[in-house]
Amino acid sequence: MASTIRSAAVSSILLFIAVQILLAAHSCSAARSKMMPGETLLAGKSLSAGHYTLTMKEDCNLELRHGKNITWESHTSGLGSKCFLYLEVRGVLVIYSEGASKFIWRSGPTSNPLSSEFVLQPDGNAVLFATTNLWSTALSGEIMKT
Ligand SMILES: *[C@@H]1O[C@H](CO)[C@@H](O)[C@H](O)[C@H]1NC(C)=O
Repeated sequence: MASTIRSAAVSSILLFIAVQILLAAHSCSAARSKMMPGETLLAGKSLSAGHYTLTMKEDCNLELRHGKNITWESHTSGLGSKCFLYLEVRGVLVIYSEGASKFIWRSGPTSNPLSSEFVLQPDGNAVLFATTNLWSTALSGEIMKT
C-alpha cells in the first residue's frame, strides 16, 4: 500500500518534470523580440512583439509591419542579396549584404559602445537601448566610516 502511494507520488513528480520540460522547449521556440550586441537577424527572419513584426526581407529591405501594413522600412529593397541585420558591439544597427562585404544601411552616424540591446516593443516602436555602467568591480568602492 505504502509503495503504491510512493510510486503514484513518483509518477506525478515525473509527469510534472515532463510538463516543465515541454513548456521550456515551447518558450525557446517562441519568436524573438530583441537582439543583443554581436547578434544577427538573417534574411527571412523576424523579430516580433504584440501585433508587430520586424523582418529582414530576402530582397534586403528591413520592414516593420502591423498586421499586413508597413509602418516603417529601411528602403533598401534590391540593394543587396543575402542581407542580414547586425547589431554591432559599438552600438549601431547595420544591414550587410553577402558575407559582410557590402555595407547597405546603418541606423545612424552616432554610435554608443554601451548599447545593450535592440528591442521590438509591443507598441510597435523598435528601440536601440544604451545603458550606462554605474559601478563594477573595476572600481574599489568606498568603505564607510561608522
Ligand atoms: C492597415 O491600414 C488600413 C488602412 O489605413 C487600416 O484600416 C487597418 O486598420 C490597418 N491594419 C492594421 C493591422 O494596422
